[in-house]
Amino acid sequence: MSELKTPVVVVNFKAYAEVDGIKAVELAKVCEEVAKETGVSIAVCPPVAELGAVARAVSIPVLSQNIDPRKPGSATGWMTPSMVNAAGAVGSLINHSEHRFQDEDIEQCVSMCRELSMVPLVCAESVDKAKRVAAFSPDFIAVEPPELIGGDISVTSANPRIVSDTVDTVKSVDPKVKVLCGAGVKTGEDVRKAIELGAEGVLLASGVVKSKDPKKTLMDLVSGL
Ligand code: G3P
Repeated sequence: MSELKTPVVVVNFKAYAEVDGIKAVELAKVCEEVAKETGVSIAVCPPVAELGAVARAVSIPVLSQNIDPRKPGSATGWMTPSMVNAAGAVGSLINHSEHRFQDEDIEQCVSMCRELSMVPLVCAESVDKAKRVAAFSPDFIAVEPPELIGGDISVTSANPRIVSDTVDTVKSVDPKVKVLCGAGVKTGEDVRKAIELGAEGVLLASGVVKSKDPKKTLMDLVSGL
């Protein structure tokens, strides 16, 4: 499946030890199970080392956690959009808070995704940054205040304004760009609030990856849609 339908729950596995090796495939299968049982659009971003294995194992959309603005060829150690696409990624996060890029590199990554019909999902730490990257017309922008990432308070409670302001600002630049929000999102109530604030889904990590019962957590999360 190559489409990223909205509303969407994007689960970023990050580089947590909980998803090392085969455990990334196992968690992706849980996400697939919940997507199939509930009909909710769920996408996963496994660690790069497991991208191909995950993409072969599940039918839900798989995104890369990163791409580099490099063409195939002499680019040792870089992640070309082409190689992640060939491994099964239908899109990629770009400029995650833990892997930031300059604006010109973001623009190039978005345009390289376009050439490969991949879905670019650009992260932004502020309304201003979201406004700047909206000019590149990615499919998605996810607003995530860095100070709330990995914490227990959802952006939707701690800073609801950043979500609604990002939606308004991004839509005023390019109404086609869809806005997600993330940081501390862990419950169905957080997701419900995100939608109420105008977001078309959420980007989250620790709530699911570090959960003792990821299926239960995911079922609760999607109940907010
Ligand atoms: O990519 C999602 C992320 O940065 C938010 O992380 O753990 O706060 O859900 P978390």
